[in-house]
Amino acid sequence: MKLILLLISLTTYSQNKFELSEQAKKEFLDLNFFENGRGMTVSPNLSRYVNIFKKSNKKLSKLDKFIFKKRLQETYGFNVLEDRVAGLFNEKYKGMDVGVLGCVACHGGKAAGKFIAGLGNKTIDVGRIGADAVLVQKIWGTNRTNPDFLKIQKVAMNFAQISADQKITNLSMGLIPDSSIKTFFYKEAKVPYRSRVSRAQVKVPHLWGLKEKRKTGIFWGAESSGENIGWEFGAELFASDSSEHLRAVLPKLTHAVENIIYKFESPAYPFDINELRAKLGKKLFDKSCAKCHGVHQRGEDGYPIYHRPKLIPIEVVKTDEDRLKGWDEYARLVEKSSISDVLKLNHRDKKGYVAPNLWGIWARFPYLHNASVPTLYDLFLEPSKRQKFFDMKNAGEENRFDKKLIGLEYPNKGSRAYEEFVNKAESGARNIYYTKREGHSNKGHYFKFMKNYTQDEIYSIIEYLKSL
Ligand code: HEC
Ligand code: HEC
Repeated sequence: MKLILLLISLTTYSQNKFELSEQAKKEFLDLNFFENGRGMTVSPNLSRYVNIFKKSNKKLSKLDKFIFKKRLQETYGFNVLEDRVAGLFNEKYKGMDVGVLGCVACHGGKAAGKFIAGLGNKTIDVGRIGADAVLVQKIWGTNRTNPDFLKIQKVAMNFAQISADQKITNLSMGLIPDSSIKTFFYKEAKVPYRSRVSRAQVKVPHLWGLKEKRKTGIFWGAESSGENIGWEFGAELFASDSSEHLRAVLPKLTHAVENIIYKFESPAYPFDINELRAKLGKKLFDKSCAKCHGVHQRGEDGYPIYHRPKLIPIEVVKTDEDRLKGWDEYARLVEKSSISDVLKLNHRDKKGYVAPNLWGIWARFPYLHNASVPTLYDLFLEPSKRQKFFDMKNAGEENRFDKKLIGLEYPNKGSRAYEEFVNKAESGARNIYYTKREGHSNKGHYFKFMKNYTQDEIYSIIEYLKSL
């Protein structure tokens, strides 16, 4: 009896990092920042009829799932889970039902069929969602007089209209335009933004290791300072269009970052790893890649030790630069804004991208900040030889995972599917990622030493990367 008690107390006290991480991920799934009518909302009461907003823990019916799969997963790119659509909520406010978006709509993603909170959503298409929301909400909002309704309706329309703005929004599934966040500051300063901000489309970054990452800076370019918590609210800020909203939820945001996100651990590779080969790969990695990405070490408990990443100038990494355009003008507006005390910036002579820690990299495809390289193998090829288009639809499902090249599978050159892709890609299909589109270039991150790798060496490094 005593022994059993001892065992029970040991297991409760010695919660390991994995359990803490799982708990934090659960909490993250339930998190949204709707507050006093403000937030990433849709028109009031629409959520009553659109049965996708989480109302209870009831499992979804078969019919629900079928509808969800077609529209929500394949067209809008949400993650449809057993009991909910990740990141969609239904909140009560002044007798109304308000559909709300939470962080995990973007900051949860699937890889090889597994849903991982803290992984970026690979497929969400905010431009497409916004366009449909504008249409539906316009009809829904006609002839309304209730001031509470109108208040939220206005915010919901702003959110949808900016997301849908053809001039600045994303051109493919799975990319989020940073331009949307910028609109908040342009509007506040009364400076027109449509011809001045680039789309700046990026993949949603993974969130494990954030505590160390923020020491270099927040976001892919680390221009935003991680000195205090605030920039994590970027997406909410433009949506709710209120700096007071940010101030009101700052304690909750701080909790979300420090007590939830900081606990996230990276997902382990779910298939086989050849340990011997991975060892060889580690040697090669430490020799050539670690000077930018750092040496990846585990603590005595077996968990990753995250390290502060380096910022690599754009002249060195030479990847797509659309994300970095117009920063100086934007920075001036941020510093003149009503929340410049919370949203601080890093001023550096050189712009560039962070060379991220590579823990859980197997799940983070397509690779680079603009998601332009479908597999780890392609990243070792000269840019002109990398795959130029790939299908993002259902990119996180198991049948889309390429276990050899590690990442998103794509059709072989010369196959029928390949020819079909060419046509779709050129006609602008949103589910096809095409590297010729604005901000989609797959250039860069090809260094001299990579030219000399044999196939064997490439596969050894990939084997090592799987183990991270
Ligand atoms: C519409 C999608 C979307 C939503 C919703 C969203 N984010 Fe993000 N988030 C992004 C994108 C895209 C980036 C990267 C932007 C960049 O680097 O240019 C990002 C970056 C971040 C980063 C910085 C990570 C790094 O590596 O520097 C944090 C932290 C973060 N988000 C937290 C949150 C939190 C907390 C919420 C909820 C309040 C949230 N996000 C809601 C899309 C979203
Ligand atoms: C000169 C510095 C440098 C070297 C050397 C380097 N990298 Fe990188 N790496 C970067 C930077 C910077 C990025 C981010 C670039 C971007 O997103 O546009 C990056 C991105 C990546 C990514 C994609 C990360 C993601 O989240 O999508 C992978 C994978 C990667 N590197 C692997 C490697 C490997 C493997 C090597 C060695 C063979 C290597 N890198 C060598 C700087 C470097």
